[in-house]
Amino acid sequence: MHLSIITCLPKLLESPFSDSILKRAIAKGLVSVEIIDLRPYSTDKHKSIDDYAFGGGAGMVMMIEPIDRCLSDLKSKREYDEVIYMSPDGEIFSQSIANELSLKRNLILLCGHYKGIDERVREYLITREISIGDYVLSGGELASAVVADSIIRLIPGVLNDETSALSDSFQDGLVAPPVYTRPAEYKGWIVPEVLLSGHSANIEKWKQEKAEERTQKRRPNLLK
Ligand code: ADE
Repeated sequence: MHLSIITCLPKLLESPFSDSILKRAIAKGLVSVEIIDLRPYSTDKHKSIDDYAFGGGAGMVMMIEPIDRCLSDLKSKREYDEVIYMSPDGEIFSQSIANELSLKRNLILLCGHYKGIDERVREYLITREISIGDYVLSGGELASAVVADSIIRLIPGVLNDETSALSDSFQDGLVAPPVYTRPAEYKGWIVPEVLLSGHSANIEKWKQEKAEERTQKRRPNLLK
């Protein structure tokens, strides 16, 4: 998979891909991530990528031309399955969208900024809009990092068997059961006996029951 993330704040996206699982996935060649600075695609001498809104209103609007030029440049190098605009009024991101996107080959994530983006970008240049929740971020960068992380960890080979995404919360429609590690007793707070029993059938049964119980209590909507 190749992920191209277009942003006017490329520095914001350096660290999410330079540590831990994402860094290893890139190093293993399972995914390549390219952070593209939008500014060089500006056509004027001030390198502007935003302008005042027609009709007035507070805030600057991202211009269509630098974005179109950037997209054309990317598309001349490879074919993309989706051009996704990160937006608070997009489709709400979920594990099922992450699963779906993890099967694609090449994706573009376009990060918005300022007060918005020229509507013609949304109308003519993108294929999908994704929101990571009903709250407004200063820009799409953090949202794109969230989406990229959740997709990349699903690519076969990124996680090993022990950390397999198959046991993640939401993958089976349930949240994950509680987990414990050593010591078995701390300040008198004990780990459930069954987890220390070595009896794998009982342990699996316990995990399933706890996952169901926890889902019922915390996310009953998942059970509907
Ligand atoms: N840009 C600003 N807020 C956002 C959100 N909640 N999700 C995706 N992109 C955004």
